[in-house]
Amino acid sequence: MHPEWERACEVHLFISMCLIIVALRPGSERPRYRCFDWTLPSSLGLACPVLTAVLSDIHANLEALTACLEHAQERGAKRFAFLGDLVGYGADAREVVETVARYAVAGAVVIRGNHDQAIEKGGGYFNDAARAALEWARETLTDDQKSFLASLPLLVRHETVCFVHASAAAPERWDYIDSSAAAKRCADAADACYTFCGHVHDQVLYFENAHGRMSQFRPFPGTAIPVPNHRRWVAIVGSVGQPRDRNPAAAYALFDPAEKNLTFFRVPYDAAAAADKIRRSGLPGSLAYRVELGI
Ligand SMILES: [Fe+2]
Repeated sequence: MHPEWERACEVHLFISMCLIIVALRPGSERPRYRCFDWTLPSSLGLACPVLTAVLSDIHANLEALTACLEHAQERGAKRFAFLGDLVGYGADAREVVETVARYAVAGAVVIRGNHDQAIEKGGGYFNDAARAALEWARETLTDDQKSFLASLPLLVRHETVCFVHASAAAPERWDYIDSSAAAKRCADAADACYTFCGHVHDQVLYFENAHGRMSQFRPFPGTAIPVPNHRRWVAIVGSVGQPRDRNPAAAYALFDPAEKNLTFFRVPYDAAAAADKIRRSGLPGSLAYRVELGI
């Protein structure tokens, strides 16, 4: 192993062990949140604690979505939560919405993202390439699919779990959780042990320390992180269809409420095929370039 890589692994292992020790430390304070029981309404299909795949920011990238769904199912995922931005940027808006709508019928949680909302309401804050992709999606989607997007909730909360696209603190403002302070505002508003967010297009886990402040942890893909329910956790699960950390591999997370652990994943897929579709659809070439390079 290269010495620098070996050193990086040692540092990451050390940080992981510190996090685990801190998280598992009994502490003198009493838990401020109810124990996680995952007793969501049966209408949501979430009535018992089973392995749940949390996917966000698919952005009309069918190749990336298919790879993540297969990856999750191979690992035993039984339930699914999609945290919004099904459309925008990519060339498979119709196919992605069709796939997610099928999961919704089977009980998946589906949340509205800012790109999904822009299909119906427009929005002046997108750059030219994003606006072009939204206009293209608006023409491509069926009326039923547009109605489906317009019907999606901004936030779903039940018992100690909260799902939202941006931040639980005023989700309609589409604020980014880009600091511990922003994560704290989100956790306070969510009033949940576990809050799952997208929007940032990166994978970050925030956890509450013994003093009630949020600390940031950068997860290592494929490593399960203990997430005991006496602390609050805000998990930013990354982007399936347009990661922005110079790694094109699709990102998502698996939450195991029975074992109380969370695993972030990166899934390599045929990004060249997704980029090729973007170019052939006549969408801005910069969008293809971003998918290929993960930027
Ligand atoms: Fe997004």
